[in-house]
This record gives sequence, structure tokens and C-alpha cells, in this order.
Amino acid sequence: MAVATCQVSERPATHPPADTAAEACLADGFKRAMRHHAGAVTVITTASEGLRHGMTATAVTSLSADPPTLLACVNRSASMHGALLDAGHFCVNILGAGQENLAAAFSSDRLRSQRFRVGNWDDGPASLPYLSDAHASLFCVVERQIRHSTHTVLFGRVFRADTAEGDPLIYHAGRYNRLLPIGDVARDPPAEHSLL
Ligand SMILES: Cc1cc2nc3c(=O)[nH]c(=O)nc-3n(C[C@H](O)[C@H](O)[C@H](O)COP(=O)(O)O)c2cc1C
Repeated sequence: MAVATCQVSERPATHPPADTAAEACLADGFKRAMRHHAGAVTVITTASEGLRHGMTATAVTSLSADPPTLLACVNRSASMHGALLDAGHFCVNILGAGQENLAAAFSSDRLRSQRFRVGNWDDGPASLPYLSDAHASLFCVVERQIRHSTHTVLFGRVFRADTAEGDPLIYHAGRYNRLLPIGDVARDPPAEHSLL
């Protein structure tokens, strides 16, 4: 059962807010709800004019398998945003459990100039920096981009995918976590949970 609910009346995004208190409540509710949305932690990288750029991102998701395409949402204020659009290529490095030091470095503006000193970085196709011991790396060409308020949504057509063994690094409720398997439930669900 929900312990907190915030709601505003539906309206086009172009209309001014009718009830600012309700809007503020909804903004808080949205942030709280998104903290409940556990996500794999990635470092998105690109290279432009001989310089490497990268930042930590969880707003990355699969779009389609045919053709292999993913979405990445990048804040337009991120220092790599311009380079990313100029380069037209990026690499999504999915971090493994134990690589939280990379996630911390690539989300700290204080460590911006030192970021690529943390971790084992190589140069891949299109000069894209990739983490040689990432949980997985997906090399993409920007096929499309859509600007939405503070962010740009990048449609990345994947042209190379590397995978490794191990567990992914998960971000949930403002903390880095590793997965804990739930016994055999997923493999052998009780009859009342079975959808088949
Ligand atoms: C766990 C985590 C996930 C993040 N996910 C995103 C994301 O998906 N998109 C984004 O634009 N920023 C995201 N950020 C914020 C950027 O990593 C952070 O603002 C970074 O410092 C931006 O790079 P810059 O300092 O070079 O501008 C995330 C930060 C953390 C800690």
C-alpha cells in the first residue's frame, strides 16, 4: 500500500502550473519514486578532438534488439554533452560490482580531470575509450537525438558489444549495491505465481 501520494491535474507541459504546492509535492514524489527504481550503473564515454570525456549514468535502457539500439539520457549541462553530439559516437560501459570507485569519479566534478586515471581504459573503434574490465561495453553511433527540457535523449545504434562474467553494479535509494539472488523462486515459481 502506498504511504505517500502526490498528484496534479493533467495539463500540457506548456501550460503554467495551476497549483505550485501540488507541483512541488509531485516533484518530491517523483524523486522519491525514482530512488526506488534500481538501475545498472554505467559510464558513458566519448572522444572528440583527441580528448576523452565520460560521466556516470543510470538513464540508459535497451530500445530494440533488431536493430540493436539503446537510449541514453544526458543532461545538457554535463561537460561531455557537446563533445558527445560532435563525436556522434559513444560507448556505454556497464560497471561491475566492485567498480563503484569509477562511478564515484565519473560523477564528481572535483575529479573531472582525473577520471580516466581510475580504471583500465583502452581505445576502441572511433577512438572511443572503453573499460577493458567492464561488466559489458556497448559501442554506439548516434542515430537520432531528441532534446527534452534539461536532457538530450540519444538513440545509440550498437555496432559492437563486449560482455564479461560477474555481477553488475546497481544504484538504488542513493547507494551502490550488488545483486542478491532470490533462491530458486525465479527458476521454479510456486503455482500461484506462475503466469503460464
Ligand atoms: C548513480 C548516478 C547516476 C547518474 N545518471 C545520470 C544520467 O543518467 N544522466 C545524466 O545526465 N547524469 C547522470 N548522473 C549525473 C552525472 O554523472 C554527473 O552530473 C556528472 O558529474 C556529470 O559530468 P560533468 O561533471 O563532467 O559535467 C548520475 C550520477 C550518479 C551518481
